[in-house]
Amino acid sequence: KVVEGLTKGYFVEERGGSYRSRFRDEKIKLVQMSKMEASFYKEVKDNWDLTRTLLFVFILLFLAYCYWKRNFSYWTNKHIPCEKPFLFLGNFPDMIASKQTVPQYLANLYAKYQNEPYFGIYLFNRPALVLRDPKLIKNVLIKNFAKFPNRAFTIDKSADVIACSSLFAVKNPEWKALRAKLTPIFTSGKLKMMLPLIKECCTSLKNYLDAQNDKVVDMKEVCGKYATDVISSCTFGVNACSLVNEDSEFRVMGKRLFNSNLIRKVSAFGYFLAPAVIKVFKLSFLDREATVYLNDLFWRILHERESNMTRRNDLVDILIDLKNDNDKSISFDGVTVSSQAVSFFSAGHETTSSTISFALYEMAINQDVQDRLRDEIHASVRKYGDITYEGVKEMRYLNMVFCEVLRKYTQAPFLIRECVEDCFIPEYNLRADKGTDVIIPIAGLHADPKYYPDPQKFDPLRFSDVNREKLTPYSYLPFGSGPRNCIGFQGVKIGRHS
Ligand code: HEM
Repeated sequence: KVVEGLTKGYFVEERGGSYRSRFRDEKIKLVQMSKMEASFYKEVKDNWDLTRTLLFVFILLFLAYCYWKRNFSYWTNKHIPCEKPFLFLGNFPDMIASKQTVPQYLANLYAKYQNEPYFGIYLFNRPALVLRDPKLIKNVLIKNFAKFPNRAFTIDKSADVIACSSLFAVKNPEWKALRAKLTPIFTSGKLKMMLPLIKECCTSLKNYLDAQNDKVVDMKEVCGKYATDVISSCTFGVNACSLVNEDSEFRVMGKRLFNSNLIRKVSAFGYFLAPAVIKVFKLSFLDREATVYLNDLFWRILHERESNMTRRNDLVDILIDLKNDNDKSISFDGVTVSSQAVSFFSAGHETTSSTISFALYEMAINQDVQDRLRDEIHASVRKYGDITYEGVKEMRYLNMVFCEVLRKYTQAPFLIRECVEDCFIPEYNLRADKGTDVIIPIAGLHADPKYYPDPQKFDPLRFSDVNREKLTPYSYLPFGSGPRNCIGFQGVKIGRHS
């Protein structure tokens, strides 16, 4: 009221006591000011407003600077070489602006720090350690696995109840029990039983290609359809027929899972860089409609099988057996069961289809590779009378070709782990604090001329028996490594080779 009085051109007449008491006792008296006096008081008030605003901005900037200094000095304080962070965005402004992808960026950094066994970066505001040295990578993935058992992201149950129960996402100790439960799915005996299902899809692929005659075919799309058919048959017991039916629901949903629209980009950004975004917007890990479709479908099939007592030797049968066994060490029911089928479909679909596409591309431009591979396959069919599990396992050159495809076109370009307990690695004088994210840039290792001379050359002979022995251990990690490696990789070999 006093200030209001002043600006409206009134004086406050003193009557003794403090302003407060005078004001409260209503002992103030407003007296009309002259024009000059009024403009003087207005100026005083304006200046005060400006000073207050500047002070406020200054305090804010100071606090932000303190935060930035404390947060982004993490690696320098530890005397670990690191990338200079950009304001509050850490090292990822280019990725946020879609100028570079995360894998490209990590591969560039891998090359830049060629003399360092490890270096630091900032994932938004979180420090992350990037490991370059294969022996150090082995140390983290295997020797010190107990301190780095989880992937460094959390899927919020309220944001995505299906993905959060998957083997890929769960954290230790639940992960350990679940992995032990699911590992028997991929024994050679079980995979052998799935081979006829895969061969059915191979026959549809052959018929489809035969019917194309001399037409130009988009092989990436064809491989996507083949992978959809194989994985839907092995994991859901459904023949998706996507090679025959253009609008196959499975194919549509499979594509949706990996749709790269704005929401999916924000979700990937959030899960990797800024978990707070996920919490606030409740973003699902993969496309919600597609995961819900696959989840519901799984339950329909499971109930049908249980009521008709039919079996097909696929993943659904194995999951029903696991659900019904008397193992009390883990509660394996409800969404925990269906989530595994959905996650096997999503983990295996795109990776398998892209690997086969790249293999076909390399064979098209390397006729010698194609000829040698064809000869090996014909020899195996002559020996066994057909494509058989044993025959596929014996095909050395086929294995070499796919190893080289997975080196040159690494499907999972980096691994990520979370340090759950302070860890000191004396050989490297490296102390990883609890809570630090650890990144292993596989694509960088696979393209390092130190391990793979002339890395852009497609050369399956790098993986011949003789040359394989000369490879630096832990420089080749297409399926990750250690107890948390890809659970499906034995199955992958059979599916893609067939
Ligand atoms: C070419 C095909 C594939 C590639 C390159 C690939 C690669 C990978 C990689 C790099 C990881 C992370 C490993 C780590 O963190 O150390 C992984 C994990 C995983 N993959 Fe695969 N994968 C492929 C196919 C499949 C298939 C077909 C399935 C399903 C049957 C599958 C299921 C999984 C699961 C469930 C995990 C998480 C394992 C865990 O956390 O215990 N993958 N995969």
